[in-house]
Amino acid sequence: HPKALLRAIQEDGDYLLKLSNQHIVSSDQFTQNGLLQLFRLAAKYEANPRRFSTSLQGKILISAFYEPSTRTRLSFESAWHRLGGDIMSITDRSTTGIAKGECLADVAEMFNNYGDCVVLRDNNETSLEEMVDSLRIPIINAGNGSDEHPTQALADLYAMFKWRPELVTEEAAEHAVSVGIIGVPNKMRTVRSLIKLLCKFPNAIKELVIIHDDSVQDELFGQQQREQIEQAGISIRTATDLDKTLPDLDVIYINAISWEGETFNTYGKTFSLTAKSPLKEGAIILHPLARGAELSTDLDHTPHNWYFSQARGAVFLRMALLTCMVQRAERVIDVV
Ligand code: CP
Repeated sequence: HPKALLRAIQEDGDYLLKLSNQHIVSSDQFTQNGLLQLFRLAAKYEANPRRFSTSLQGKILISAFYEPSTRTRLSFESAWHRLGGDIMSITDRSTTGIAKGECLADVAEMFNNYGDCVVLRDNNETSLEEMVDSLRIPIINAGNGSDEHPTQALADLYAMFKWRPELVTEEAAEHAVSVGIIGVPNKMRTVRSLIKLLCKFPNAIKELVIIHDDSVQDELFGQQQREQIEQAGISIRTATDLDKTLPDLDVIYINAISWEGETFNTYGKTFSLTAKSPLKEGAIILHPLARGAELSTDLDHTPHNWYFSQARGAVFLRMALLTCMVQRAERVIDVV
């Protein structure tokens, strides 16, 4: 329940003021305390969702999604609506001047005139960079190619900490969990962002286990990514037999994107989860969704299903983030 997490985090509202008018591009931007304060505010919203329904009244969100999305777009839009704001959506870049060759810096300049915040999903990794210098309103990276998806990672960690609030306390090491990631971390934007956040809570992680096929052993991490994990002091283990590894894991993170195309046809069936998988009692499965055949629907009605909670919590997490980015400081203090 969100209230247990709320109680576990001591309030320090000053950090939240620092997010005002900031762009959110990468998970690297957050500090441990900053994350805790965001989760605390998200838990506050989740515990009492109707209480703060007008704080973004008169503000306009530009929701620009140039790749398909169910959760990220709708949960950002739901969060904005729940805070009382208005929304303009672009779901197809070919309906904008970009189709006529307009440069992204000019599009960004126009966004300044029409809205108060932009959420952008683009398959092109560099679009954000091309817009940021021209923007005077904050922009949120909602997935840029295979690079990052920082707000998904925030939602992932928020779900994990609601499941085990002890992980945010000074006794975290006594309750540390083994986190298994199925697939190639360097190729999944949600995982790239999540690993950056896990590195801020090394005491909460007993070990990170990467479950993969032998053929991708050399592609698992980028150099920077590996260095970041090592510097955080988190131990990494790799494994190729999912069923032998599952009984050791407290959190299993699986993602459809890791099994794209040929890879899924070749290895997907070996690395899929079903209700018959030998999961540890009390273990949770996280999946950013949309799912493919790697996550069987027969798990939906088991206690291992935390992926639906993960998606639901994203609304409150995004409410917290938007509040801090777009509201005036005195109103953030009121909410905190
Ligand atoms: N988790 C996630 O990014 O889902 P969508 O692609 O539906 O937004």
